[in-house]
Amino acid sequence: MKDSLIARLATLLLALFAAAGVLAEPLEKAAVEAALDAAYAKYKSLQEGANADYIPALAKVDSTIYGIALVTPDGTVYTKGDVESEVSIQSISKVFTMTLVMDEQGPGAIYNNMGVDATGQVFNSIVAVEQYKGAEMNPLVNAGAIAATSMVAGGSREEIWARILDYYSAFAGRELKVNREVFDSEAATNQRNQAIAQLMYAYGRIKDDPARATDIYTEQCSVNVNARDLAVMAATLANGGRNPLTGKQVMQEENVPEVLAVMATAGLYDDSGKWLYATGLPAKSGVGGGIIAVSPGRFGIAVISPPLDSAGNSVRAQKAIADISNALGGNPYEVIPQQ
Ligand code: DON
Repeated sequence: MKDSLIARLATLLLALFAAAGVLAEPLEKAAVEAALDAAYAKYKSLQEGANADYIPALAKVDSTIYGIALVTPDGTVYTKGDVESEVSIQSISKVFTMTLVMDEQGPGAIYNNMGVDATGQVFNSIVAVEQYKGAEMNPLVNAGAIAATSMVAGGSREEIWARILDYYSAFAGRELKVNREVFDSEAATNQRNQAIAQLMYAYGRIKDDPARATDIYTEQCSVNVNARDLAVMAATLANGGRNPLTGKQVMQEENVPEVLAVMATAGLYDDSGKWLYATGLPAKSGVGGGIIAVSPGRFGIAVISPPLDSAGNSVRAQKAIADISNALGGNPYEVIPQQ
């Protein structure tokens, strides 16, 4: 009797908070499933974009892979389409290496070394590095990302790599592995990134061996993930750094706002403004075809579909995530007026 009274009081309080805009209403299962179904069907036959081909192995990836996953902070996993096929994580990895460096050295380390501003240039721009001598960049473009990788603690390449892979795996909630074919392919063709790293070294933004930093960065980009993995990683960010499936606090909670701010500013490169305008969601894309997006406190979502637009962002993933989030009220800037 007493218990049921307390439960009713708690429900009433939650409803009052929700009505006052203090807490977002929990997502309804049927609404999430309907949103995933609708977005999947709407974009299934879309024929826009093309696989990345400047990394030869990516051109060979099945461009029909199309998977959607959404995970809520209570650990509910929703999926639609192909959420088993794995692609390389590519630039989505940059979020988690940045986060690792913040955990190890505090958010100031990133802010002070490569900055947090959008470059307004393509992700592998050399002009952007030259313009500000390696500062005023951000850890989500290649120059800032290779510099971030060079900042990860560890006495040897093996130790640094183990730390990075363990960290990513804790976010995904399972042991992730490297796609050797993609790693070898990118390592054989990453002369531009090597040049960028040498420039960042010349400007004092990379302190260690730039060739080693580029090599580790290339390996981090080659980690294989499926849409479900990516959604769990995004949901961990949506849940204050606690993995909703394993219950493990995998990053420092106080760094989540800074991580999400950088994603909002630069996650989709020179199209980040358009993306934020359409969705309000911090997000990150990768040339493997994945995009993750975070609705803080509400959900993490990921879509994999390899064909990309000219900015290097998956065409289907952008459209599907925008539709789903907007259908579920995921935009954190949407507020119900009071009085
Ligand atoms: O360094 C590169 O060019 C790739 N390993 C990663 C680029 C990437 O994913 C850009 N994302 N949209």
